[in-house]
Amino acid sequence: MRNLANRAPMLTRTGTKARWLADLPPVASDSLLALIALAEADPRNDKIDVGVGVFRDAVGNTPILKVMKEAERRLLETQATKAYLGSAGDKRFAELLRPILLGPHASDERIAGVQTPGGCGALRLGFELAAEANPNARVLVGTPTWPNHPPIIRSVRLEQIDYPYYERGQGIIRFEDMIAALEGAEPGDIALLHGCCHNPTGADLSEDQWREVVRVVSERGLLPLIDIAYQGFGRGLDEDAFGVRLMLDACDEVIIAQSCDKNFSVYRDRVGCLFVKTGSKGATETAMAHVFQRARVMWSMPPDHGAAAVHIILDDKQLRAEWLIELAAMRDRINAVRQRIAGGDPRLAFIGRQYGMFSMLPLSKEQVLKLREDDAIYMADSGRFNVVGLGDDQIDRFIAAVVEAMDS
Ligand code: LMR
Repeated sequence: MRNLANRAPMLTRTGTKARWLADLPPVASDSLLALIALAEADPRNDKIDVGVGVFRDAVGNTPILKVMKEAERRLLETQATKAYLGSAGDKRFAELLRPILLGPHASDERIAGVQTPGGCGALRLGFELAAEANPNARVLVGTPTWPNHPPIIRSVRLEQIDYPYYERGQGIIRFEDMIAALEGAEPGDIALLHGCCHNPTGADLSEDQWREVVRVVSERGLLPLIDIAYQGFGRGLDEDAFGVRLMLDACDEVIIAQSCDKNFSVYRDRVGCLFVKTGSKGATETAMAHVFQRARVMWSMPPDHGAAAVHIILDDKQLRAEWLIELAAMRDRINAVRQRIAGGDPRLAFIGRQYGMFSMLPLSKEQVLKLREDDAIYMADSGRFNVVGLGDDQIDRFIAAVVEAMDS
């Protein structure tokens, strides 16, 4: 650095037009967030909001889990300080998640985890790490995908390559296209995969399909980045982690973005975890040093409250057992609503074969908008709807309106 002591530095730049905040271009609003606001603003009493992915019970509420209330009570009574915990956040929280997500890999020292603000924070951090390691990597994305995936990939300046994942008319996965895309990728490219409860389609890979995907990913030398935000909402905690664990069996390098926001029903508290596996303990330590550095410049240290409560639940045998019961009740409701809708019309039968909160209806954007205007039914323009956004007494009206829209 030059020493400019006692002299004002020359800051003049020629040929550069000043730009101001007022020069910023308009931004197309995030469609899901806009949908929440639209549904909220609708004054009709019988409106149905199946937009954003939030679990609702039979009467349309998103209650705080009983175990969460108890954990928060204990937290209130026992928490003695809110001093910083550091970039890694609550280390015990990440440790307690290991057996739930990683299963037999829980004790693998080549896998490290770090608390993040929600699954979205984990995704961003995972992509930051992948881009830092290999800025030339391309990201293979099956479409449709969660609408926030592409902007996150753009934010880390990686190139995105799309392939078709889902055949909406038939409600099936375009598995041959998926395999062809993965087989055509270069070593070091990133395969973005949904661990379970595919968002937005609900169409999960079968165990045989996972075996095939894992084989191609490992043979081609791709870096799998698995987004798993709904573990326990599909078939069960272990069943939903099948793909994650199989990938860990086969690959030395794996990135996993995990979320507790849904399965602990702590959406607004933003509770997630990033897991990173490399081929050696030393390489993982180095990778995690990069992770902490990236976290430091993005959020410095993760928010504590939700993770601290999840920590209390998972560290207490009784609370943990009660959480499993509450989680099973949420899963059972999701699957029961699925079966009711599937039974409503043969064209909706595919919904009964899918998992998690979402499915995608074979509706055009115009039909979706008409449902919004005529029937006060709010779903994403893509036809994605939150199965469990429906209260029990709304299901029949929803089916009737959707069937009418499909016939129109
Ligand atoms: C959703 O897809 O509805 C949720 O993951 C919420 C979100 O942030 O988009």
